[in-house]
Amino acid sequence: MYQYDQYDHLIVRERIAQYRDQVQRRLNDELSEAEFLPLRLQNGLYMQRHAYMLRIAVPYGLLSSKQMRMFAHIARKYDRGYGHFTTRQNIQFNWVELEQTPDILSDLASVEMHAIQTSGNCIRNVTSDEFAGVAADEIIDPRPYAEVLRQWSTFHPEFIALPRKFKVAINGAVEDRAAIAIHDIGLTVVRNEAGEIGFKVMVGGGMGRTPIIGSTIREFLPREHLLTYVEAVMRVYNQYGRRDNKYKARIKILLKAVGVEEFTRQVEEEWLDLKNSAQTLTEDEMERIIAYFKPHAYETLAAIDPAAEHADNKAFGNWLKRNVKPHKVPGYAAVVLSLKKTGVPPGDATAAQMDFMADLADRYSFGELRVTHEQNIVLADVPQSKLFALWQEAKALGLATPNIGLLTDMICCPGGDFCSLANAKSIPIASAIAERFDHIDYLHDIGEIELNISGCINACGHHHVGSIGVLGVDKDGAEWYQVSIGGAQGNHAAIGKIIGPSFSAQQMPEVIDRLLQVYVRERSDEERFVDTVQRLGVTPFKEFVYATPIAEAGRLIGEDEYA
Ligand code: HEM
Ligand code: SF4
Repeated sequence: MYQYDQYDHLIVRERIAQYRDQVQRRLNDELSEAEFLPLRLQNGLYMQRHAYMLRIAVPYGLLSSKQMRMFAHIARKYDRGYGHFTTRQNIQFNWVELEQTPDILSDLASVEMHAIQTSGNCIRNVTSDEFAGVAADEIIDPRPYAEVLRQWSTFHPEFIALPRKFKVAINGAVEDRAAIAIHDIGLTVVRNEAGEIGFKVMVGGGMGRTPIIGSTIREFLPREHLLTYVEAVMRVYNQYGRRDNKYKARIKILLKAVGVEEFTRQVEEEWLDLKNSAQTLTEDEMERIIAYFKPHAYETLAAIDPAAEHADNKAFGNWLKRNVKPHKVPGYAAVVLSLKKTGVPPGDATAAQMDFMADLADRYSFGELRVTHEQNIVLADVPQSKLFALWQEAKALGLATPNIGLLTDMICCPGGDFCSLANAKSIPIASAIAERFDHIDYLHDIGEIELNISGCINACGHHHVGSIGVLGVDKDGAEWYQVSIGGAQGNHAAIGKIIGPSFSAQQMPEVIDRLLQVYVRERSDEERFVDTVQRLGVTPFKEFVYATPIAEAGRLIGEDEYA
């Protein structure tokens, strides 16, 4: 994985010293809250509903066991014993004290981490596929390129005051596991007819109040031009992106306003000056960076079938089916540790679990972990022969729920429990649905489905691209939930369609149940929920959900909403 050099260490240390002084001045009232605000945001510190919240970047989701242990330490020493892994491969601590934040940042720096550029109108954490480097369907490992982008974008003087935040995702495999279509720039590795490696460049995807799937502006960009081309895109955006209206400031709005062709023309024109400049990636430079990601010392192992060896153990079989993924090296597998146990907010991990996951990484997976954008943790390099032992250990700490990709593997933002922008709570909705469907055979029967929940239109919980999306809305001060279906991430990304008037919190489990009933009735063999929705359209689902009022304990709830 990446390593800081002497300059990184120096810059991060100096930054903490400045910040420590700023915090001290705020505490002494020498700085007003308004003066302090941009200073703290530049260091990832938000003010939320109850307390300060610190967001820490995990570059492209890759963590060492040492770094994970540091998260456990922070959770224990400075927070309430847990942290929240987010869809952007970050971790958030929700209960930190202002005066302790310089110490937290200092502790983080000791393991080569920071919270710089996790907020503000700059290029944020570059995200990637959690199976990068090990996926069987990978063309090349995207992480060296993600690292190039990280080094280039961190502290980039020209791009620290963009019209709005900027998110870049990069994928190196045939299957898109980095949700590139919903990023400001989405890059995917492709091979051209001559067999050369390059990138397909998508721009202008994003969610929030105007959800848009990105447009391809270049089918093939030779890889040495990655930085210069991205820089050209950034320059066009920086120059023409709207600064007068925060809600129209993302690059997706600019792209729609000028049209893909014109936008592409401007980028290509800008690129003419940059192409072949000093930022063109040389072989030497790429080799230097690729060296950080050299494959681990894999043993020569015979491929085995752990399912056959434990054929009588159904629980283990379920876990293998859902949480274990193929690996390109024979005899190895990638394992997803589920942070979606019923009764726990999706993405939350306790200090004990974090320490434990770090131990598992040391003992089973070369001391590395990854954070997924579905808010789970991956051990990418586990020998197949050790899967049974790993499963038993992970189960004991509540990390082996066999639900990856299933209904209870929900994405969920912090919503009204923490977030000051929320219109409604989201965690209790996730819990109520998880409890209602906490039956593993049923979940396996329903098959792959993405249930994504956001507490407001900002869409931090990816509701637009959920097979079922739930959005918290405010109506006259009350919390309601709007439901959309048919959204998808990945290679066939799509924005879901709203099915009709919104529901009360109590109605939500029944709404999900009704949607699933229509699916079970209408599905053809092997068809996933989203395929059925896309084949039939929203109407049959909508009709059935709204056919009769949803009652609870004999009492109608919220029926006036669609009477
Ligand atoms: C609690 C503090 C948070 C605040 C104040 C916050 C704020 C926002 C805002 C204002 C937007 C809309 C940006 C725009 O359209 O210009 C947004 C988008 C987003 N945030 Fe958050 N967020 C928070 C937490 C999270 C968490 C916990 C996650 C992951 C679970 C997350 C992931 C995202 C994602 C994926 C998007 C939408 C992607 C896009 O911008 O197109 N955020 N957030
Ligand atoms: S979607 Fe809204 S409620 Fe949820 S974290 Fe984002 S800003 Fe907060």
